[in-house]
Amino acid sequence: MKTASFFPGAYPNTRLRRHRQSDWVRRLTRENHLCVDDLIWAIVLKDGQGVREEVKSLPGVYRLSPDEVVKEAKAAAALGIPALALFPFTDGGLRTEKGEEALNPDNLMCRTAKVVKDAVPDIGLIGDVALDPYTSHGHDGLLSGEKIVNDATVDILAQQALVLADAGFDILAPSDMMDGRIGAIRAALEGAGHCDAMLMSYAVKYASCFYGPYRDAIGSSGVLKGDKKTYQMDPANSDEGLREVAMDLAEGADSVMVKPGLPYLDMVRRVKDTFAVPVFAFQVSGEYAMIDAAAKSGALDRQAAMMESLLCFKRAGADGIITYFAKEAAEILSKK
Ligand code: PBG
Repeated sequence: MKTASFFPGAYPNTRLRRHRQSDWVRRLTRENHLCVDDLIWAIVLKDGQGVREEVKSLPGVYRLSPDEVVKEAKAAAALGIPALALFPFTDGGLRTEKGEEALNPDNLMCRTAKVVKDAVPDIGLIGDVALDPYTSHGHDGLLSGEKIVNDATVDILAQQALVLADAGFDILAPSDMMDGRIGAIRAALEGAGHCDAMLMSYAVKYASCFYGPYRDAIGSSGVLKGDKKTYQMDPANSDEGLREVAMDLAEGADSVMVKPGLPYLDMVRRVKDTFAVPVFAFQVSGEYAMIDAAAKSGALDRQAAMMESLLCFKRAGADGIITYFAKEAAEILSKK
């Protein structure tokens, strides 16, 4: 953690513009940098072969079949992107009340992880642990009537995490916001000998409208009944996020995430300053869609808005950013 030492600089002895007068001195005094090591590429999977299907609400983002993900994983590794975060679009026929497909060791996530790890062993794979891509109601947990049942969901999430770890995912990232799931998943992983499996907890995850396009991407927007306010956090809350992080770290999380990103950078900073652990932020689908739409309308410069927003995550204290822009940003960084 950086502690600022303030001195009472007064004009004209102090002129803060001195360090802004030319590119070389701005570079010399720059406090934060965005580099390719900061980028985690969010990728949506779709079953099949040779599939590249553009997501309507996320122009420029494609649902990719496993063979296409392999191609992109090679490109990402060549650019130096450290890791991919995978999210599955599940065909309607495989969605059930209890989301059993999440536990199928041969599901789309697992098959993709295997082919990617075979072809590109050195890229990190992050697997989303949650039931929403697999449930017929689009919720992250099991339903009893209208209620999300916490503890029974946690049992399934622990099994899901094992299935993903067995398939080759390096980092398991529970995005469900059930209480106690980090401890249960950690115990399951240790019990199965997966002592190197890393847990990146979506600890500070808000019930946000900015996930809209993602739900379209994974095919759950049409099916989601109600909202996720009984498990995801209230956007009005801040201290509660620190309690979430404290509990998840105590239960065995290796890193924590704040999500969404840009509207919640205050939480990135608070979490980093309070806990001094690896903190990640998710520039979610709605944030991508806003920049894309603003650029298309001519209101913003796409590239400038993308790079500035990513840098701002770093300034706020994030160690890395999950983003749909990862490849585009990495290409720009590689030309610098
Ligand atoms: C759910 C999950 C969501 C996202 C990742 N995992 C959405 C939700 O909670 O409804 C959102 C990602 C994005 O918007 O880009 N387990």
